[in-house]
Amino acid sequence: MEHKDEQTPKIEGNMPEVSPSEARVLKFLADNAGLQKSLTEYEILLEGMTEREVSSAISWLEKKGLLLVERKEHTAYTLTYEGKRFLETGLPEERALNLAVKNGDIKTADLMKELGAKDGKIAIAQLAKLGIKPEGGIISVKSGDALKEVFRERILFLSGLPQSASLNPELLEHFRKREDIISEKKRTERIVRLSDAGIKIAGLVSTEEQISEITPELLQNGSWRGKDFRRYDLNSPVERINSAVFHPITFLKERVRRIFLEMGFTEMTGHYVEYAGWNMDALFIPQDHPARDMQDTFYIDADRGIPFEDEEVLKTFQEVHEKGVEGYTGWGYRWDVEKAKQLVLRTHTTVSTIRYLYKHRNAPQAAFSVEKVFRHESVDWKHLAELHQIEGTYYAKDANLSTLFWLMKEFYGRLGFHDLKFIPSYYPYTEPSLDVVVKINGKEMELGGSGVFRPEVTRPLGLKEPVVAWGLGLERLAMVYYGLDDVRDIYRTDIDWLRKFPLKF
Ligand code: PHE
Repeated sequence: MEHKDEQTPKIEGNMPEVSPSEARVLKFLADNAGLQKSLTEYEILLEGMTEREVSSAISWLEKKGLLLVERKEHTAYTLTYEGKRFLETGLPEERALNLAVKNGDIKTADLMKELGAKDGKIAIAQLAKLGIKPEGGIISVKSGDALKEVFRERILFLSGLPQSASLNPELLEHFRKREDIISEKKRTERIVRLSDAGIKIAGLVSTEEQISEITPELLQNGSWRGKDFRRYDLNSPVERINSAVFHPITFLKERVRRIFLEMGFTEMTGHYVEYAGWNMDALFIPQDHPARDMQDTFYIDADRGIPFEDEEVLKTFQEVHEKGVEGYTGWGYRWDVEKAKQLVLRTHTTVSTIRYLYKHRNAPQAAFSVEKVFRHESVDWKHLAELHQIEGTYYAKDANLSTLFWLMKEFYGRLGFHDLKFIPSYYPYTEPSLDVVVKINGKEMELGGSGVFRPEVTRPLGLKEPVVAWGLGLERLAMVYYGLDDVRDIYRTDIDWLRKFPLKF
């Protein structure tokens, strides 16, 4: 802004930017206090500026090195709600005394009625301290004159609040001991004086209004012309602000989602509570399999009456479990429909895959999810009872083991992990079954399972083409992604750790 430079007087070196209100405070100090004298911040009175504006100008000027600020702690006293009431109606002890004087005496019971129980009690206690004690339930006073001055001083004290300095110490003590009349607050008062730099520029700064915000109106009506613009001081110190960031798991989950979406997969969603029938039977997991044990699975203690939505499909599960499919023998035990109707917290998201494929029986299909599962498991450095699985499936004429290898390599490669290993494994629903292992910095981490669905899984549901599928741990991935030795660290609310990740997509 050319015209600005012509108007601004120059001083040696870099002149700090000073806003008009800061300039007014500088000039006020130079004019009113002389260059070397100090003022408290409440003594800086500028028309059109509130106490707050003065206070913030002082803070900025201090930061810019133009003011020297000394801080003094002191206690400020103010009236409470009760205190204000007494100031209006008179102190209870004074009102009581006046009543007694008027009639020569007063019964304490009547006093309570006149003043109310609360004020009545206060009045009796305070009068007793001044030597007027009830006798036989009656307070009698001949003249109140002796106490008039005491009460006048008390009221005078209260009406002088809020104040901090030069309070009568006896009265202060008196009211501090009485309940709920005055309250005290610690305050810091700032005493300010121009620094050498402040003295140097106080005469040079401009208090003229500046344009600090450019609005459409300003531009349209041209009123900006010839005006002074507020400059930005790019060197002024700013506090570090910790803005909200994604939790590392949320971030990683989102990255994973994006990768599968970019690869053309459809996202599937499911429910935490599932039928054992879909979570297990559909996947050809026999009913006496150890994974179905209460030790490993959370069962929901719900009324068995919640109807399974598809009785037909249950019959096909029974058929497969008991007799198999063409060319395969099945498990050969007596299948129990009640066990299939039990509700569980899903132990894996492969339940979403199998439900999805049952609904979308036309190949090709490519679907994924990143969702939570639950296992009745003891928690240790690499096991959690509640975790996320990266689930996925590819169902197509050309789906086979090499498609699976390729998909895993592609997926992990996009996250930056290029060294994968597949080791033979076992799941009742896949053949072959493979566990995916990632190698990083000489260490290996098991990430999850995968394989090709067995015909006992696909055929009863009417799936005609081969299906490859995988279920991978998101938290395990997070361990290698963030370099953790203990999976539990992810869910410790360690703010310092969480702040370490300026996670951006
Ligand atoms: N569901 C298996 C698990 O929870 C992983 C898996 C998914 C294995 C799909 C094979 C196929 O560990």
